[in-house]
Order: sequence, then structure tokens, then C-alpha cells
Amino acid sequence: MAAAASAESTVTPQQLKDLVGLDDKNATDLATKSAERAVDLVNFFTQLKITTETPQKVKVVLYLAWTKTNGAVRGYIAERVLAGALKTTQQVDAAIKFIGTKAVPDFTDKAWVAKFDQECGVGFELSTEQTKTLVMQSLALQDAKEMKKTWASKGSGPFLGQLKRVDALRWADFNLVKDIVEAEVPTIVATVPDDEPAAAAPAAAAAAQAEPKTGSKKGEITFAPQADFEPFMNKKRTWLRDIESVPAGTEVTILTWAHVVRHQNSISFAVLRDTTGYVQTVFEGKVPEFARESSLAVTGLVKDRTDKAVGTDGLPKKEIKVTSYSIVGAADHEIENIVRADSGVDLRYDQRHIVIRQKNPANTLKVRSFAVQAFRNHFFQRGLFEVQPPTLVQAACEGGAQVFEVKYYDEKAYLTQSSQLYLETCLSSIGDVFCIVSSYRAENQKTNRHLAEFTHIEAEYGYIKFEDLLSRLEDLVCDTFDNTVRMCGDIMAEINPKGMREVEEGKASLDPKDPASWKARPSKPFKRLTYHNAIDKCNELGILNTTPEDQEEPRPFRYGDDITDFPERQLVGHFGVPVMMTHFPAEMKAFYMSKDKKDEKLTESVDILVPGVGEIVGASMRMYDYAQLMQAYQNNNLDPAPYYWYTDQRKFGTVPHGGFGLGLERFLRWILNLDTIREATLFPRYMGRCSP
Ligand code: 4AD
Repeated sequence: MAAAASAESTVTPQQLKDLVGLDDKNATDLATKSAERAVDLVNFFTQLKITTETPQKVKVVLYLAWTKTNGAVRGYIAERVLAGALKTTQQVDAAIKFIGTKAVPDFTDKAWVAKFDQECGVGFELSTEQTKTLVMQSLALQDAKEMKKTWASKGSGPFLGQLKRVDALRWADFNLVKDIVEAEVPTIVATVPDDEPAAAAPAAAAAAQAEPKTGSKKGEITFAPQADFEPFMNKKRTWLRDIESVPAGTEVTILTWAHVVRHQNSISFAVLRDTTGYVQTVFEGKVPEFARESSLAVTGLVKDRTDKAVGTDGLPKKEIKVTSYSIVGAADHEIENIVRADSGVDLRYDQRHIVIRQKNPANTLKVRSFAVQAFRNHFFQRGLFEVQPPTLVQAACEGGAQVFEVKYYDEKAYLTQSSQLYLETCLSSIGDVFCIVSSYRAENQKTNRHLAEFTHIEAEYGYIKFEDLLSRLEDLVCDTFDNTVRMCGDIMAEINPKGMREVEEGKASLDPKDPASWKARPSKPFKRLTYHNAIDKCNELGILNTTPEDQEEPRPFRYGDDITDFPERQLVGHFGVPVMMTHFPAEMKAFYMSKDKKDEKLTESVDILVPGVGEIVGASMRMYDYAQLMQAYQNNNLDPAPYYWYTDQRKFGTVPHGGFGLGLERFLRWILNLDTIREATLFPRYMGRCSP
């Protein structure tokens, strides 16, 4: 890269600090000891149009590229940094290694670029939450006593060194990893006592006397479990969410699982959990080394915690000093090897039954349950009835190619794509209806928003017009968002802390159960855009059709093109709020949609798109005229015979009507900012996975 004509022949340390972001020492050293290199560096940054406003993260990686490369290689890496493809120092290091030192590769060769992207983790994003989970899992595998020593003598360095070797963290942002280590390690090591206690406390000693002493070394006091756990189940159970308000000195009985355990010679610590929370417990004496995930029934005395981590680790400020306990079901020690910090995604889904015991997956399932409740309440409060249509069907709803075929005795049947057609039959029976059941799609898609089986929330309303349908949808999305937050905003904030607004200076913290605290909170009326306007908008914004059917290369959109996942997310990302895309051309949509009276080529249809996810709702008015529907079967090459019961609606008391389908997992991905909708499902089903 040639030096800029306008460059000065000398640069000052201040320039290097402001423009390049160097610290005082490095800036002074470079400016005074290597003046020529300093000029070269400033020229490099100036040519790339870096300014004082450019984020420091970008400057750091560009500086790294400048120190280790030159010429065309430096130019190529800088170009990829500025395009947002290479974001971290690890990626730039990988890029330098991949390019090598011999011949300069052909940077326009697509196959080479694809391999480069793969080797350098281009497009690989780890969310803050995922990074934190991986770091915490890795730290949990380390011996706390050793950690304490290392932390006291060497600080965060050795921990970062170890974490850099964890495969799953290869592309993580290590500034973030450093922040996590510096916040979490002090908390973990604070629970490690400086010296082993000389003797067990009286309660443990009493319990130990009452129990046989087995396998103890000389001088150790054994604190053995009770063989029979039933007496614990007969006592009054205290839920862990209530521990905080139980006065110190009170005896409680809790029924739990061991979330984290640390056994030492004559004392054990365990964080126990039930569905309502977590609590720290202390077992004074030598206990059998039960593994994490063992189920434990415990009676003990509530105490105020005095360790240094109080108030910082999310656990109650009270702990329980165990006086008696029973190991209801011991977990095999193999538990530590089933899912490790560096386990791949596939293994995590193979072991989903274990993974859902972790805090984040468990929290996501809880929010899912509250969200379903919010949807149900919405419908019940508006007078709808709930029905359960069959999922084994013989008439496809959304088009033939995407159905799973099943052998049904001697006949062929399909797994339903949508319950809509059945909901329509209820209108003249019980009126407006909804259902929450599985729908199935045999799509060749492995994206983060496609499942083969998803939970479909569908409703159908009679005697409505298109405009009524649109306002009901706005009402549905706003109402269920708000009510989900009201029920479980605190849990949502644990999963997605960044989803909450910033607290204004001088104000108290925000209430996570107040819908107004959430950045994504939708408000009415939604932004509306016809399909035709959306195509124009994509072209105006330079959003390309990345998967055109007529050629391989991305190209500008044309009317009739499907706006698929990526451009759809770019479009809604531009608006930053939910968007209603309406009036799709008839040939792009399902046979049953009614035509727009002003333009018969268009349908009375609407998709709701939300930032980060794209489409979460598909809706339309339905053809209610008999002759029109018969024509639609013909236009779509459908045999009307298996649909006779659907057609009959138009023969016997038809009315204008419409409805929608909303994918629950996509809704959850939106409100929780999940990386993939698979995380919003108990046991996801997607292309390539039908177990466990
Ligand atoms: O737009 P769709 O295909 O509409 C229908 O099925 C209508 N019959 C619904 C109706 O009017 N009653 O699907 C509706 C929604 C989508 O917006 C999306 O949220 C979800 O269902 N969906 C999927 N979710 C996860 N994985 C998939 N493969 C999905 N396909 C659709």
C-alpha cells in the first residue's frame, strides 16, 4: 500500500494515541525511536479513513495487521477488517497464518476466500451470554484452591492463557473473556477458606456421632448421609426462592439437586438448586464425594453469609449449614465428561437432557411456558375458544413439497403444516378459535430460524375485514410481549441482560418486569409496507437478493422475488421495529388467500417481521366465495376432493374471515435475543436431528 501523499514526515506521540489508539508508552517509544515506522503507521490508518471516532476494537486489530504484515497481504486483511469480517486479534492472527509467507494468493479466487473465511472464523459470532457460559463452564472444571493461589500470585493472565486453548472459545472476544474472568474468578475464590477448619462445628459433630463412621481417615469427622430420604419428604418443604427471607437460625428442609460441588478434606460446599432458585450450603465434616447433579434432600440451619462474594454472585445472602441430609439419587462422576466447555453444538443437542439442567436453557424453557400462558390469556380474554385439531392429515395446507409423509395403516397421510383449515371449520360452530399445537415442515433448511417441528400458535376470526385482522395482530404481539415481561421479565433479564434499556444517570435501576424497560417492546401502529414497496426499499437500500432462483450471484430485487431470510432481516433491521409486510402477489402465496379488491393480482396477506429474526407471523384473509375457491384449487393444480370439508364452509353459510399463524420459537428468539430458535425448544427437531 503506497504512502499517502499528504502524510507528514514526522508524527507526534499524541497523533499515535489519538489516531491509532496506542497507550502513552508505546506511542512515545514509536514516535521517538522509530520515526519512519510511525509515519508508515499513520499513513496506513489515514488511508483506511480511520478517525478518532473509529472504535478502539477495530484499531487494535488493524494495528496488529500492520505490525505483522505488509504490502498486498496487509491491504487484504485491512479490507476484511473494515468490512466487519475479521473482528478479533485471534482472527487476524489466523488470517496471517493462513495466508502464510510465500506467494501472495489470488484474493479474488472464490474458493480461496471461502477457505480463508472458514479458517478465520468469519461470520462466527459468540454472544456475550454464550461466551460467559463457556468461560464459567471451563472455570467450573478447575480446582478452586489452585485457582485461589494462581489468582493471588499471577492475576488473570494464566486463566486467559488456559481459556485461549478452549476450542469453543477460539473466536471469542478476549476483551470480553478478560472482563468475565476478572469479574468471576474473585467471586469463586472468595468462597475458598484460607485454612482448613480445625474441627467440625457442633451440629455436624452431633450428626456424625449419630451416624456410622465409614471410610474416614484418622482425625477426620465423618458426616454421613441418612439412608432413608422419605423422612425429609414428610417435613414441610421450603422453596429456595424463599430462603432470603427466612430468619437466620431457622431450620429448613429443602429438596434439591447439586448444581456445583466442591469437596475438601473435612468440609464440602455445594450450590443446590430447585426449580425456584439456588442456595449455597456447607457440609461440615467428611461427606461421601457426591457428584454434581446428585439429588439431595437436606435439613439445615439458615445463616447469614459472610464470604466475600455475598451480593455479587446472584445467590441468596443466606446460606444453609447442613445438619442432616440424604443422597436421594447419586449422580455418576461421569457427569463431568458428558458436556464440557469445549463440546460442539451437535454433542450439546445429543445431551440436551443434561444441558437443560443448566441455568440458561432452564430459564429459556420457563420463559417459554410463561409466553404460552400470555398467548392463551390473550385469546381467552377476547372470548376465543381453544381447540386441538388433528396433526395427521390428508390435505396439505401450505403447498405440497414441504410435507412429511407417514404410513397411516394402509393409507398415505401427512404431518400437518398448519391447523388453519380446521380452525376455519369452527367459525360457524363455536366462533373465533385458536390452537397451540405442533406444525411440521420438511424444508431443506438448517438455518437458525427453521425447525422441522415447531409450535404453531394459530387463530381464526369470523366476520372481519383485512384492516381488522391487521389491528388484531398488532394487539396480539404488543399484549403478549407486555404480559410475558410482566410475568417473567426478571428471568428474561438473566438470559438477555442487554435487552433492557440503559438506566438514565441519577435514576434507580430499571424494573425488568416493567415492559417499558425493554428495548424491543413493540408499539402500535406497526410500520406497514406493501410487498411492492418492500422490493423498492431493498433496492433503495442496496439490499441484494442473495438467493435468486435464476442465477448464482446476488443481484438487485425484482417484483416476484421471494425476500428470503437474510435480506428480510436486513430490511427489518433498517427499520429497527416490527414491520407488517402486506399485499403479496397471489402466485407467491397459498391457494386460500383472498384477493385484494383494488388489484386482483395481489392478496389480502400480511407477514410480521421483527428485528434480528425476520418473519414471525404469516396471516391473511381467506377466500370465502365458493366459485373463487374452486378456481383457486384449479390454478394451484390441487385436487378439490380431499378438501371437500373445507369447501363446504363456502356452501353452508360462509362469512368473510381471516387468521394467522405465529411460530412460538421465533417469537421467543426475538424477545430473548437467542442465537437460534433451537434454543427455544425442549428437544429440537431440525434437518438431520430427530432425537433424543
Ligand atoms: O407463514 P406460514 O407458513 O403460515 C401458515 O402456515 C398459515 N397457514 C398460518 C395461518 O394463517 N393460520 O407460517 C406461519 C408462521 C411463520 O410466520 C413462522 O413464524 C412459523 O409459522 N414457521 C416456522 N417456524 C419455525 N420453523 C419453520 N420451519 C417454520 N415455518 C413457519
